[in-house]
Amino acid sequence: INVGILFGGKSAEHEISLRSARNVIDALDLTRFVPVLIGITKDGRWLYSSEAKLIQGEGENLSLNSDCQEVALVPHSTGQFHYVASGELAEKVDAIFPILHGPLGEDGATQGLLKLADVPFVGCDVLGSAVGMDKDVMKRILRDADLPIGKYIALRAHEKRPTFKYIQSELGLPVFVKPANMGSSVGVSRAETEAEYNKALDEAFAYDRKIVIEQFIDGREIECAILGNEFPEASVPGEISFSHNFYSYEAKYLDDKGYQIDIPAKIDDKQIARIQKIAIETFQVLECEGFSRVDVFLTRDNRILVNEINTIPGFTKISMYPKLWEASGVTYTNLISKLIDLAID
Ligand code: DAL
Ligand code: MG
Repeated sequence: INVGILFGGKSAEHEISLRSARNVIDALDLTRFVPVLIGITKDGRWLYSSEAKLIQGEGENLSLNSDCQEVALVPHSTGQFHYVASGELAEKVDAIFPILHGPLGEDGATQGLLKLADVPFVGCDVLGSAVGMDKDVMKRILRDADLPIGKYIALRAHEKRPTFKYIQSELGLPVFVKPANMGSSVGVSRAETEAEYNKALDEAFAYDRKIVIEQFIDGREIECAILGNEFPEASVPGEISFSHNFYSYEAKYLDDKGYQIDIPAKIDDKQIARIQKIAIETFQVLECEGFSRVDVFLTRDNRILVNEINTIPGFTKISMYPKLWEASGVTYTNLISKLIDLAID
C-alpha cells in the first residue's frame, strides 16, 4: 500500500508539522506500507521525494529540501491519486496521511482536495476538520450539544473592539486571546491589564480575521486521544503542567523544561471515565472521524470544561497523542497502521 505522507504546509505550524512527519515516517510499518513523501513549502509549492531526503536537518531544526522535484497532484479516472512530476507520471498513492497542522492543512481545505480526487485519507473529513479548526464555531456546536465549555467572546477584525472594562465584567481577569483558527498556541496571549489586552488583540489579529477572547479557567489541563470512526475509543487521559505562565508555543516546543507530562494523569477513576465520555462526545458532535485529541480543563471544583479539539494532533517527540495511545497499549507503529486502516476501510 503506497501511503502519501503530506506535511509542511503554509500555516504558522509548518515546523511542527515537519517534526510530526519525521516521527510518523520513522514509525511506519514498512512490511505493509511504502511511504511516498510530499512536502508543502511555506509558500505552497508541493515537493516530492521517494526518500527521506525531503526533510533535512536534525532535531528541532528541520526544513524542506527545496532541491526536490516539484509536483502536482491530479485525480485519476480510477479514483486514485497520481503524482505528475515534470509532465511524467511519477508515483501512485493508495491513501494519504495528511500531517498538516493549522489553516489549509487541518481545516478542511486539504481534505476537500483529497476528497475531490477520491483518494482515501487519514482523519476527519471536510466538515469535522473545518468546525474543529474554528474555535468559535467549535464552541457554538459544543454549547448546542450541552457539552461544558468556558465563557468566551468572538470578535471579527471589522467589529468594534469591546472595552477592557466590558471584558473584565463579562469574563473576569486574566483572559486568553487566541486567533480563531490556529494551533500550537501561535498568536495566543494571556492578558491581565488593559495594555496587555490591546496588545493581545493585535497579536491574535495578525493571524486571523476572527479571534476568541476566553475566560481564564483555573484548572488542570488534561488531554485525551480519540481513535476510530463510528465507534471511537478514548485513550487514558494525560496531564500537562507548565512552568511558563501558560502552555505557550515556547513552553511546548522551544524550552525543554517548559512543561511536564503525566501519563496517565493522576486523577481518580471517576474523573477518568467522565473525561473519556466527554472527549468521545466532543469528537462525535463535531463530526470527527479517524482521530483527534480533545483537550479539557479539570477545575478545582471538579468540573470538566472542553478547551478544544485538534483534528490532526501533533506527532512530535513531546506530543501527547501517540504517547497516550502507547500508555493505553497501542504502540506507535500499530497506531499509524490503525489510522491508515481506518482511512481505507
Ligand atoms: N496543534 C498541535 C500540533 C497539537 O495540537 O498538537
Ligand atoms: Mg491544546
